[in-house]
Amino acid sequence: MAALTKPGSPGQHGGKKWLDGAVGYEVYVRSFADSNGDGIGDIPGITGRLDYLKWLGVDIVWLTPFYKSPGHDHGYDVASYSEVNPIHGTLEDVDDLIERAHQLGLRVVFDIVPNHTSSEHRWFQQALADPSSPERDYYLFRDPAPDGGPPNNWPSHFGPSAWTLDEASGQYYCHLFLPEQPDLNWRNPAVRAEFDAIYRFWFDRGVDGFRIDVAHGLLKHPDFPDIPQIKPIAADAGPMENFFSFDHIYDLDQDDNVEIFTRWQDVAAPYDACLLAESGVEAHDRLARYVQPGALDLTFFLKPGWMAWDPAKFLRELVGLAEIESHGISWVISNHDQARPASRFGGGPEGRNRALAVTALMFSLGGVPFLYQGEELGSPNGEIAPEDRHDPISTRNETDEGRDVCRTPMAWNTDPFNGFSSVEPWLKAADRPLDFTVAGQHANAAAPLHRYRRLIALRKHHPDLWRAELKVIDSGRPDVAVIQRGTSLTVANLGSQSFAINLGSGQWQVLFASQGGDGDLASGIVNVSAETTVILVPAA
Ligand code: GLC
Ligand code: CA
Repeated sequence: MAALTKPGSPGQHGGKKWLDGAVGYEVYVRSFADSNGDGIGDIPGITGRLDYLKWLGVDIVWLTPFYKSPGHDHGYDVASYSEVNPIHGTLEDVDDLIERAHQLGLRVVFDIVPNHTSSEHRWFQQALADPSSPERDYYLFRDPAPDGGPPNNWPSHFGPSAWTLDEASGQYYCHLFLPEQPDLNWRNPAVRAEFDAIYRFWFDRGVDGFRIDVAHGLLKHPDFPDIPQIKPIAADAGPMENFFSFDHIYDLDQDDNVEIFTRWQDVAAPYDACLLAESGVEAHDRLARYVQPGALDLTFFLKPGWMAWDPAKFLRELVGLAEIESHGISWVISNHDQARPASRFGGGPEGRNRALAVTALMFSLGGVPFLYQGEELGSPNGEIAPEDRHDPISTRNETDEGRDVCRTPMAWNTDPFNGFSSVEPWLKAADRPLDFTVAGQHANAAAPLHRYRRLIALRKHHPDLWRAELKVIDSGRPDVAVIQRGTSLTVANLGSQSFAINLGSGQWQVLFASQGGDGDLASGIVNVSAETTVILVPAA
């Protein structure tokens, strides 16, 4: 068997031992559990459900933003970074959550939003009120182009332009998202100092780390040049399609972002706290820079989260990245911004099986994989009537793009509103049937919930799966990946034909099969069914 090798380097993560072999879980705060019957998820609701996450076996719980916010982007528009939005609870509730999580042996990661603030943040209000104030330079105000229009052609993710005119001063300000989310000026040392203090505020309260929103957007090219358009834009294109019709060479992923990451690591390291980037960067070598020595501990690799089913492409992306950076990656196919993988991959049992097959592969790639609430149930997209949509991508544009489908309430049981709340939830959706609830799956040993739980557990019991040197064995098929790490062997057959591999001996046992049977181990030949990942170890 020809092996391409990449030495593993488990000493990464800045020496934060607790990240080694860990599995993360994303909680979308608005939609996890409502404790006080107002239809909105809250901090005490999450605290009350930590036992479930402990039972599931995850190690790290990431909470989406719960700070003071007018909520134009559901909390990703922060009006005060050290105050808790009263719809989600109080600072005391947050302290209680951290304490309870730590009692259970869980780590807690919050979400920081440094690329932009809310337009209601005191800094932005001051910047508008007094253009000569220091806060003016916290943001990116620029004079209009000679024709009076926006300073350049940059689009916003949420459409159309990244520039909004401040009529009082005649200048435009930059926002890569909504006009209510003005971008900060990360070239200003005062902004850097503000965020050091925000990190310390939360680290001092015991949080174990941060997920960094839009980490690839912080610095913009100092000259703000136009960016090249790389695709024609259809007249009916949604804002995201419009955004990705440009090559973001001056507004995203600037080389000097790494300086900021290094500075933050100096703040986080004394607390043994982790920093995890949300980076939309697709190129493997560019992404690896986010976790270069001294920079961040981990970065999400988001691309598989927006890909439709394409076996060979999945393997190229996942295995290709793992070969150049295995320990610093947080693997995900699901989060609060993307359609549910079970739906994206074809729906029904087929979509669910494909999602688990990819996940089982990700669990063998090192780093820290994350699940998104409900993913462990194989949940398909939620069903929402067009008039009940909330995501600004949908409500502010004529488009079917929109993220509400993955933000419907967690389905705990078959009580009204699936046990999420005693009243109509903030996001109105069709109730899930028993088979797609935690209670229903808990009672059914064959349900996805138990398979995900088993996968999490076996990763703990077999550290070779994330620690040993990663070798990619040539399978001869672009839709099959064979990965050897120490004593473990992972065969991900994402193709539609079964795959036989000869292991040369019968001394193997199947630790995990994402679906189907155990193969024929007697002769050392393992048959892996179509769209199935099998993890093997030597027989005891
Ligand atoms: C990130 C978040 C997304 C949010 C955006 C702007 O991509 O995950 O939900 O809308 O940043 O903050
Ligand atoms: Ca509530």
